[in-house]
Amino acid sequence: MSALKRPQPRPGVLAIDPYVPGKSSAPGVARVFKLSSNETPLGPSPKAIAAYKAVGEHLEDYPDGSSTALREAIGRAFGLDPDRIVCGAGSDDLLNLIADAYLSDGDEAIHTTHGFLIYPIATLGSGATPIAAPEKNHAADVDAILTAVTERTKVVFLANPNNPTGTYVPFDEVKRLQRTLPPHVLLVLDAAYAEYVRRNDYEAGIELVATSENVVMCRTFSKIYGLAALRLGWLYGPAHVVDAINRIRGPFNVNAAASAAGIAAIADTAHLEASRAHNDKWLAWLQVEIRKLGLEVTPSIANFVLIHFPDVEGRTAADADAFLTRRGLILRRVKAYKLPNALRMTVGSEEANKLVVAALAEFVGSKALGRK
Ligand SMILES: Cc1ncc(COP(=O)(O)O)c(C=O)c1O
Repeated sequence: MSALKRPQPRPGVLAIDPYVPGKSSAPGVARVFKLSSNETPLGPSPKAIAAYKAVGEHLEDYPDGSSTALREAIGRAFGLDPDRIVCGAGSDDLLNLIADAYLSDGDEAIHTTHGFLIYPIATLGSGATPIAAPEKNHAADVDAILTAVTERTKVVFLANPNNPTGTYVPFDEVKRLQRTLPPHVLLVLDAAYAEYVRRNDYEAGIELVATSENVVMCRTFSKIYGLAALRLGWLYGPAHVVDAINRIRGPFNVNAAASAAGIAAIADTAHLEASRAHNDKWLAWLQVEIRKLGLEVTPSIANFVLIHFPDVEGRTAADADAFLTRRGLILRRVKAYKLPNALRMTVGSEEANKLVVAALAEFVGSKALGRK
């Protein structure tokens, strides 16, 4: 059969480079430290695990399709109106729903050059064209985003902090972006790592959503709450955006186990604080120690660091990746993010962090280029 006679996906779908998740194994290595997906080394709250297990007694029941108890729990924790919250199967689900609801053929959606990969994927999937706005020093640049706006622009995706760079846009700049964008352009603030941020010039998006009609904020339970396996995220938006997303989301897009675990996780503030404290300590330590080895590290406010390697045979990011992987230390190649000379490392346990620094010291210090 000729290709034209068989069913065809919408334009753009076959232009997508499928998302490749971080590696999770190292062949032939018994003990592996996975530092490639920005998962928390502390795991979820034990209360979330107990709540998850309790759902196992009632698997015959459909979940509450509108995640009422979860939205109320999020509303209590963040001081938000639960009616302005939509939950999803991870924030990926919500980002795709936003693209589906607001983009169609011929439209454009802006992301930044090293922005999170799901943005161009979701954009192409809905028939629109992704436009990359250049960054400055590996950070989103509001002027470059504004310059990229055309009459076709419908959505701007901004990860703040950004993955994989760990950089952020201060609140004043985010406000300037919102103020200057045409009012019909939806600004999506993806704050997947907001809980880790310790900066008083940062705002995840709550204030801007509350005071405007064209901003939506996405959050996740996959990172600091340690529930990545369950797929749970939420958005906070204006009533009209919430209404649109609710019309197209799957009626049971959040499963009962995820919902129960999320409610318990959000209530366990002691666990949250312990996770933040762990990250504060080791994020700072890693940046200092890795720089001491002569490697450049992009300043990060999230739970990972971007480490740059020279483009010299035997010293490259690919060489470092192979060297570390043989020792069971799995970092993330970020070539797909247009960063071929860097590796992203998640802040891990004390043991994992120390092992990576020691292995990098060995890698950097190995005299013979290409020594394995
Ligand atoms: C910036 C950003 N947004 C969203 C996500 C998706 O998170 P999830 O779908 O697990 O909620 C990630 C995960 O890596 C991320 O880095």
